[in-house]
Amino acid sequence: MIYARVEVRPATEDDLEPINEIYNHYVVQSHYTFDLEPLEMGSRRDWFSHYGTSGRYRLFVGLEENHLIGYACSSRFRPKPGYETSVETSIYLAPEAIGKGAGSRLYEALFKSLDDQDLHRAYAGIALPNPQSIGLHERFGFKRVALYTEQGRKFGRYWDVAWFEKPLGGETGA
Ligand SMILES: CC(C)(COP(=O)(O)OP(=O)(O)OC[C@H]1O[C@@H](n2cnc3c(N)ncnc32)[C@H](O)[C@@H]1OP(=O)(O)O)[C@@H](O)C(=O)NCCC(=O)NCCS
Repeated sequence: MIYARVEVRPATEDDLEPINEIYNHYVVQSHYTFDLEPLEMGSRRDWFSHYGTSGRYRLFVGLEENHLIGYACSSRFRPKPGYETSVETSIYLAPEAIGKGAGSRLYEALFKSLDDQDLHRAYAGIALPNPQSIGLHERFGFKRVALYTEQGRKFGRYWDVAWFEKPLGGETGA
């Protein structure tokens, strides 16, 4: 489905409050993230410093009539230097924006921006169940490669996490 009115652009510092509001909704209401407490704006600003307007680590927002309805990002997978050709991607929409194609628009922009980067793999960890997220990731060529059982604990129980992997077409080599 096409969500024709969504505008996608790189995030700026001014977007951090609505980004945090959307994310914190899922912190409080869902098992989709294993953060247990809402993020403060100070942590959110530190998080933002990880992203650039070029390079491997990108952050895009989606807007409908100038109202921020979601975001998607590519983040460093792990700190050790040999992992630098891998990113972990993440995406969250405001509840009212789900299921209308906005997630697809955001991922299109994100992966397009990574096209010319020296990247080889993208990963997404999806705490189960989450059929919408699995649907989106499969649509973008992610394949399930692992199931980590009871990897996280939230709301007094353990949750399985399915790990999805997508090849990226960046430069190859050392
Ligand atoms: C996951 C999320 C970003 C997907 O974005 P979205 O805009 O809802 O997804 P889209 O409408 O672009 O749909 C993408 C694909 O997912 C699939 N899909 C959507 N909802 C689905 C569902 N309930 N069951 C199975 N597949 C589904 C569709 O096949 C669709 O592809 P198609 O248009 O070719 O049919 C969004 O639902 C969301 O923010 N969810 C809450 C937060 C979250 O779970 N984040 C991810 C954590 S891992």
